[in-house]
Amino acid sequence: MEIKAIGCEPLQLKRVHLENSHTLKVYQENGGYASLRKALGMTRDEIINEVKASALRGRGGAGFPTGMKWSFVPKDSPKQKYVVCNADESEPGTFKDRYLMERDPHALIEGMLIAAFALGSETGYIYTRGEYKYLIDIMDKALDEARSAGFLGKNILGSDFSHEIYTHTGAGAYICGEETALLSSLEGYRGHPRMKPPFPAIEGLYASPTVVNNVETLTAVPQIIEMGGETWRNLGTEKSGGTKLWSVSGHVKKPGVYELPMGYDDMEKFILEDCGGMLRDDKKLKAVIPGGSSVYIMNAEQIIGKKVLLDYEGLVVGGSMVGSGGFIVMDETVDIMESTKNLTEFYKHESCGWCTPCREGTDWLLKIFNRVASGGGQPEDAQLLLDICDNIEGKSFCPLGDAAAWPIQSAVKRFPEDFKKYLLRQDVAPVEAEAQKF
Ligand SMILES: Cc1cc2nc3c(=O)[nH]c(=O)nc-3n(C[C@H](O)[C@H](O)[C@H](O)COP(=O)(O)O)c2cc1C
Ligand code: SF4
Repeated sequence: MEIKAIGCEPLQLKRVHLENSHTLKVYQENGGYASLRKALGMTRDEIINEVKASALRGRGGAGFPTGMKWSFVPKDSPKQKYVVCNADESEPGTFKDRYLMERDPHALIEGMLIAAFALGSETGYIYTRGEYKYLIDIMDKALDEARSAGFLGKNILGSDFSHEIYTHTGAGAYICGEETALLSSLEGYRGHPRMKPPFPAIEGLYASPTVVNNVETLTAVPQIIEMGGETWRNLGTEKSGGTKLWSVSGHVKKPGVYELPMGYDDMEKFILEDCGGMLRDDKKLKAVIPGGSSVYIMNAEQIIGKKVLLDYEGLVVGGSMVGSGGFIVMDETVDIMESTKNLTEFYKHESCGWCTPCREGTDWLLKIFNRVASGGGQPEDAQLLLDICDNIEGKSFCPLGDAAAWPIQSAVKRFPEDFKKYLLRQDVAPVEAEAQKF
């Protein structure tokens, strides 16, 4: 497993290779908690303005500007305010947050503390999926260390700022990574998403103002305070500041967690050189899902020779999205119908069942996939899959519906041959007609 920075100095990965990198001692020896001290000497607005200037965008999937999210929290609200770290990391192909928590837990604590100070919050939570129990043990030990050293608890570093952080595990449901479902789960209810608006910044945990941020978003905050928002932004691009972690899995020689500057200028080079090239030398690149499974799948023609930029804007131009930054690389041996069926099993299983389009739609999609895979494919099935996706996308209560539809829509349209071979009358080509439009 490779864990390294390419095209930039390691920032997120600065400490992860050090022996005992998870301890307070090593963290402090390498500059840890200096940003918290600096932040305590700043005003709340100054901190939020630095984060705005950094162009940091949420690393959990949606890419929402972090500074703007923080500025939505009402300053004059008499209610308790909360900082919640979304450490659910349930997106398929995504495993960066676990490395940060395992090897650099104090960076997360420091990021949460700076956020809490900026927002006037006394309580924070780190919410992980149930399978990450071992990380909770690491985080709890780090929280104890931070508390003993005066970084956490009452009157932090002698100031009038007090903040406590608690860890909490879910039971492993994908939907509990969606921020409002996470908050329901944290309150002890079933993890159903909630209506937005009101957004969590106004009415979140216990109906109080709450900022929910991803692990990687929060671990970037001490870096921004240390070097200043503008400098951090300039590591990336105007609209996508800083550096970003990418989890790379699949048919490459060097899977792992890579830190790249935002706007890294060639997706093809990243896969075929930086990640060691295709796992089997004699096999060609066929497909990549670059943002965890909940984004459009790209075919090789969209990547090879296209210089796709790795940032929020570049990947949209290239035909997909940054999402959670989980690169799933597939070579020519992969049957895209089979792999899309596999993803549909996941979304059907993880649909929380709250709203009809997603609950019924994912079930129908899987039934069709199963029939097609078992030899009962009909020529109209490709179009049928697309029609069902149309009835889920944009019509579901939360973004899981879109997430279930996007991989299928793009797979059917960008890999028509992989579907066509399963259909009985191969002279009928509705898939090809659709592909022309995409
Ligand atoms: C089905 C679903 C699952 C999600 N899972 C995660 C997750 O595991 N981790 C995460 O940080 N965000 C996840 N998100 C995104 C969150 O809803 C939210 O946008 C994010 O936590 C906000 O933090 P950020 O602004 O720092 O990205 C998920 C969203 C959806 C719709
Ligand atoms: S879209 Fe799916 S996961 Fe989201 S509320 Fe509806 S049923 Fe639940």
